[in-house]
Amino acid sequence: MPLLEVNSLTVDYQTRRGSIRAVDDMSFTLKKGEMMGLVGESGSGKSTLGLSIVRLVPSPGIIVAGHLEIDGISLLDASEEEMRSIRGKKAAFVFQDPMTSLSPVKRISAHFVELIRAHEPRIGKEQALLRAKATLMDVGILPERIDDYPHQFSGGMRQRIMIALAITLNPALLIADEPTTALDVIVQSKILDLMKGLREKYKMALILITHDLSIVLERCDKILVMYAGSFVEYADSMELHTNPMHPYTQGLLRSIPNVELADQKLEAISGSPPDMLSPPDGCRFQPRCVNAQERCRMERPPILEPEPGHFVRCFEVKE
Ligand SMILES: Nc1ncnc2c1ncn2[C@@H]1O[C@H](COP(=O)(O)OP(=O)(O)OP(=O)(O)O)[C@@H](O)[C@H]1O
Ligand SMILES: [Mg+2]
Repeated sequence: MPLLEVNSLTVDYQTRRGSIRAVDDMSFTLKKGEMMGLVGESGSGKSTLGLSIVRLVPSPGIIVAGHLEIDGISLLDASEEEMRSIRGKKAAFVFQDPMTSLSPVKRISAHFVELIRAHEPRIGKEQALLRAKATLMDVGILPERIDDYPHQFSGGMRQRIMIALAITLNPALLIADEPTTALDVIVQSKILDLMKGLREKYKMALILITHDLSIVLERCDKILVMYAGSFVEYADSMELHTNPMHPYTQGLLRSIPNVELADQKLEAISGSPPDMLSPPDGCRFQPRCVNAQERCRMERPPILEPEPGHFVRCFEVKE
């Protein structure tokens, strides 16, 4: 049984200008302990998908259809109280911007003690602090800094503190939204390597959200590519790298510099993503697709499985 099952998930934002379908009929599964990279350009719906899994889609967003299951628990049927215990223990979410979840007026110690005791009221303050210090060490923060305030840390360190908070309750799944572009690529790579190590120690599954395919390609077991709210391709990283089947994934791979190809020509995908208030008919990628046929403009392709475990939403592939 997979740890996480997402089935035909659809999420809308009802804005004054109209309805935006940020996640459109998304389906995939993730096994225990697997590490997945969720990739797509800005506005493709990555954060919305990640937040849906912990049922924290911000207003005016609503999950309008689909089924979500973690460890056999149906999330869309859970009460708000059940969700509070699921969040943190089953699935934890690390936000894009650490300052949205760290309170500037609270010491790091207070963040930990409150979180641990909210979930496990029988744990005393001293015991909670011991656990917090051990977790801080796991993310490379000196435990004696536990009484500092968030602003006393650098952006990269705050990101580490966020991760430490997310893993203290030992969740089965950790969803980490891209440490913002405010962090440079080296800091970002270090954080991803840290998470990879933590995943082994804590035996948890990970979903890493990023717009940079090259950063997750070598680090993750699986890659899920999204485009304009829509499922594009999902496969093992190696398989996706060597045998990309969707023209969008192929385009993304062509735009990554490859050190082994000396005379590689880097190509950007021409065109730009659609206005989400009036997306194109048929396949969402067809206006930019070099292989687009009449059918692609009329109908939405289904998700096909041309190779076992390799899923693609495109009419061109043969099952
Ligand atoms: N609170 C909101 N209200 C209205 N529309 C929203 C809201 N949040 C997101 N959207 C819209 O939903 C779509 C998906 O947004 P989302 O933030 O999930 O994308 P993303 O892939 O995480 O982008 P980024 O890489 O920039 O973080 C976008 O078109 C966005 O404009
Ligand atoms: Mg986002």
